[in-house]
Amino acid sequence: MPKVLVLYHSTYGHIETMAYAVAEGAKSAGAEVTVLRVPELVPEEVAKASHYKVDQPAAIAKVDDLVDYDAIIVGAGTRFGTVASQMRNFWDQTGGLWFNGKLIGKVGSVFTSTATQHGGQESTILSFIPTFLHHGMVVAGLPYSFQGQMGTEQVKGGSPYGASTITEGDGSRQPSEIELEGARFQGAHVARIAAKLAG
Ligand SMILES: Cc1cc2nc3c(=O)[nH]c(=O)nc-3n(C[C@H](O)[C@H](O)[C@H](O)COP(=O)(O)O)c2cc1C
Repeated sequence: MPKVLVLYHSTYGHIETMAYAVAEGAKSAGAEVTVLRVPELVPEEVAKASHYKVDQPAAIAKVDDLVDYDAIIVGAGTRFGTVASQMRNFWDQTGGLWFNGKLIGKVGSVFTSTATQHGGQESTILSFIPTFLHHGMVVAGLPYSFQGQMGTEQVKGGSPYGASTITEGDGSRQPSEIELEGARFQGAHVARIAAKLAG
């Protein structure tokens, strides 16, 4: 049974929702799954003034936790076309793990969200892949066997790079069923690859 970590940062809850869908998918493929989040770095008064979602039950990850898993699925919202700095800051503390080759051979995968349809979902996911590669990890995305990423009948996230959702500028749009399906598919896909590699 592969061990899968879903490691996320979410300001307004969209990525949090996606994280649990990813976890559900990984579980459905037989993985033992843990959902953790990275620490918030924004000062409390800024978080309050900007109406951050502060009630997020997932425990806070420690850098050394990463060693315990066969796969790490990272979820973070887009900031100016790249990954939120809270997630980057967490990985910027993994130098010791890198030095000792502790993450080599693990599976890495990313999902994201943006406010606007073309606000940088693909660039966000792609911007994180070098981090996995420097750690010697094996990158997985969202294969086209997830047919939900085809078609233009509705506005939706999801690409071969990874699952995603679109939140609208005011955050009012919640992950749609097809986007959650993509997240579950990605979780299951990663879990199956991790099982093969672990085997
Ligand atoms: C500083 C900042 C920069 C952002 N940059 C982008 C961006 O480049 N493109 C975009 O579509 N949305 C952008 N957003 C919107 C966030 O991506 C969106 O709020 C986030 O994906 C919501 O996910 P969450 O509810 O899990 O935090 C930005 C938000 C902030 C606060």
